[in-house]
Amino acid sequence: MAGREFLHSPGPSHVPDRVLAAMHRQPLDLVDSRLKAVVGRCFEGLKDVFRTRGHVFIYAANGHGGWEAALSNLCRPGDAVLVPEAGHFSNSWADHARALGLDVEVIDGDWRKPVDPAAIERRLREDRGGRIKAVLAVQIDTATSTLNDIPAIRAAIDAAGHPALLVADTIASLGAVPFEMDGWGVDVAIAASQKALMCPPGLALLAANQRAVEVSAALPRHQRYWDWAPRLGEESYLKFNGTMPEHLLFGLAEALDLLAEEGLPAIQARHRRLAGAVHAAVEVWSEAGTLSFHVPDEAARAVTVTAIRTPEGLADRIRLHARERLGVSVAGGLGRLSGTAFRIGHLGDLNEAMILGCLGALEIAFIELGIPHGRGGVGAAIERLAAERRNVAG
Ligand SMILES: Cc1ncc(COP(=O)(O)O)c(C=O)c1O
Repeated sequence: MAGREFLHSPGPSHVPDRVLAAMHRQPLDLVDSRLKAVVGRCFEGLKDVFRTRGHVFIYAANGHGGWEAALSNLCRPGDAVLVPEAGHFSNSWADHARALGLDVEVIDGDWRKPVDPAAIERRLREDRGGRIKAVLAVQIDTATSTLNDIPAIRAAIDAAGHPALLVADTIASLGAVPFEMDGWGVDVAIAASQKALMCPPGLALLAANQRAVEVSAALPRHQRYWDWAPRLGEESYLKFNGTMPEHLLFGLAEALDLLAEEGLPAIQARHRRLAGAVHAAVEVWSEAGTLSFHVPDEAARAVTVTAIRTPEGLADRIRLHARERLGVSVAGGLGRLSGTAFRIGHLGDLNEAMILGCLGALEIAFIELGIPHGRGGVGAAIERLAAERRNVAG
């Protein structure tokens, strides 16, 4: 197919040319000072993005590795953790914790709404002996496209007077939405390279405060690769528990420079603007009654991904058509939304023209597949974008 392919999954996301170019080089000797400088840029830049002066850990791993890194450092088999259900990813994290031998309690949630902090507070108040070691909260559940209120979850833990650590999955949100690790009292935050951080998959990125590091240090060691203790050393070889994934670090350092150049407030405003365009289009498409928002309340919708419900089977036909015939990849429904939703990723290295290209291709797919939809979704997206840009300029 001629022209660019458009990747609109909610991760992996589009990788900027500058990041690709930074990776296009020979590896360096492990003790080369240039490599040390790149490693330093990565650790310092990540602190700025997590908004912490705590400790940062970088693993050659994916997001699942990040989950395991956090749990392995904070808990031992038999320890209890509380997981407010946000959607497919909170549930997968709960499964992962069970597989590590943890005693996992899930607070049932509604996949179309954010988690309820009051339910967390109630459950923690009942746990008088403080058995629950950590609350595992997902900021944006990529499967449902809901945004969860991390400061409200912190407030719920505090209101219950409970010592549980707050561990936040910011894998689909870090960089794109406000996150204040220190300011919000998050003990551990987990991210991954392939989403709003605009890098290829392959790095799990963690931040931990002093309390979390002390909890880890006090536990008997039972694993090595994830262990924070050696990774707190000065030597790069220790920080990575072996040879570092150099090329991913070259890319990450460049991506962090890009984030610093644009600035987090501007990046987050851009994500809100582009999400607004997607929402405007989906609102119009929904008028025919076949397609609809998975998250009805606009305030609860993520700005990085939008899940759109369809009758059974239609979502996959739309995805296939868009990818095979139009060169635009959107994601499918996950878990209980499998086959009945598709998801537009709108995060990372993205601008107005790119999101309009994606929406336009989807509209072509609806027409070619004979899917009833309100006409003019792309026009509504253009109007929304133009109005927002006028507001900024004015
Ligand atoms: C919110 C969230 N958590 C965890 C993961 C798992 O990350 P990975 O697929 O890199 O293991 C994902 C992946 O999409 C995610 O969106």
